[in-house]
Order: sequence, then C-alpha cells, then structure tokens
Amino acid sequence: MSHPAADGDRRLQDHPLLGALPDAPSVHLTFDGRAIAARGGEPIVAALLAAGVRVFRTMPVSGEARGGWCMVGRCGDCAVVVDGRPDVPACVTAVADGMAVGTQHGHGGDDCDLGAAFAERAAGDVDGDDR
Ligand code: FES
Repeated sequence: MSHPAADGDRRLQDHPLLGALPDAPSVHLTFDGRAIAARGGEPIVAALLAAGVRVFRTMPVSGEARGGWCMVGRCGDCAVVVDGRPDVPACVTAVADGMAVGTQHGHGGDDCDLGAAFAERAAGDVDGDDR
C-alpha cells in the first residue's frame, strides 16, 4: 500500500510496484521566493508538485494557469523562470541546490521561442546554451 509522507511531502514513500522511495541527497530551491526542499536529481516539477505547487506558468493571451501537462518535455505547459532565465521546462530539468525558480507569466521574452528551447533540451542540450 502507498503512503504519503507525514511531514507534508506529497511524494509516495512506498509505491506498490516500484517499492520504497530510495534515499537521495537533499537540495533546496525557492519558488517565487518560497523555500522548497527537493530530492537531488529529481525534475523541478516533482519538487513543486510534492510541495503542493500546482501552477507554475500563465498563458500569454488568456492568463490561464498552467501546471504541466505532458511531463515529458513536449507541451510547454511547465515553462518556468530559473535563475532569471525563462522557458525552462520544469518537467525535464533537474533541481539544483540554490536554484531560484519562478512562475513564468506569458512569453519568456521578446525573443521567446519556446518550441526551439524545448527542442534543444529534447536533443540533449540541457543547459540551453545552444540558443
Ligand atoms: S509538462 Fe509538457 S513540457 Fe513539461
């Protein structure tokens, strides 16, 4: 049987098929200034969801809230701002200690090309320096 942690961490601690959550180093990040504890190596989106954050971007025209959809780096619904850089896909970008993550409101900037940013990451350019 699966059990959530008792301390507010929403991760499953004992998955019925995958077993117990393995040990991982603790890292700390912030989301819109809020301190969040994360497991080293996990995607940003995992840390946000485990901390109860459900919205991490808003749409450019409608302003509708988004909190990820595909979770495999394809749709763009999880784009966040990381250390001042927009268009970072939270679902396929690993947390790092001290990382400052923020809600992305609308486009990432005047030269935003979210499709290109995500395509680069899908091709293995995890830091986006080929843009
Ligand atoms: S949730 Fe679709 S790209 Fe991250």
